[in-house]
Amino acid sequence: MSEKNHVVWHQGFVQRSDRNQVNKHQSGLVWFTGLSASGKSTIAHHVEKKLFENGVWAYVLDGDNVRHGLNKNLGFSRDDRQENLRRIAELSKLFVDAGILVLAAFISPYKEDRDYIRERFEGDNFLEVYVKCSVEQCEKRDPKGLYKKARAGIIKNYTGISSPYEEPENPELVINTEKIDLEYSVSQVVEMLKEKKLMPED
Ligand code: ADX
Repeated sequence: MSEKNHVVWHQGFVQRSDRNQVNKHQSGLVWFTGLSASGKSTIAHHVEKKLFENGVWAYVLDGDNVRHGLNKNLGFSRDDRQENLRRIAELSKLFVDAGILVLAAFISPYKEDRDYIRERFEGDNFLEVYVKCSVEQCEKRDPKGLYKKARAGIIKNYTGISSPYEEPENPELVINTEKIDLEYSVSQVVEMLKEKKLMPED
């Protein structure tokens, strides 16, 4: 028997449902996927602000930040991206249990990894948002200069340049940031959250 078979889940006195009741809102996971510079983090942070102003405990988990701490030992190979997202899925589970509405912004380029996360949240409040933007446009934006470095071969396995991005087939929401501005993008997510009763109506 391996060591981990002796680890038993400890159930506390306070349940997620108790926290949701005190907070007066449900917790859940909104998963933003899309290319680097598509607008995921920007939209997520604006939605977080809106939620906060409306008394909803929300928190953004974002690739660039999480990779500075929890996942600093991971790179961008197929295996590392998978492990990155597996850990984020588990972290999100804990946050959701803690009563938080998690706004996760990760490129998450592989369908297999996104399906895994969806399965981990089966029957729960899980909403996938595809932040759609062409590689050409993301490359034009290039706020961190990383596309340029990827084109020059300085960064390897760069999503959209030298590593694939598999588009979601059935996301709950698609936001095309080439066609709509930030304000309208944020309002689309807010509308979805209201519709799903994850945010109070005005
Ligand atoms: S994911 O593919 O594992 O989901 P994640 O969202 O955590 O990626 O991190 C993406 C961020 O890391 C990008 O916004 C970019 O700033 C940075 N980055 C550095 N190297 C790469 C790379 N090879 N491919 C994609 N993003 C990279």
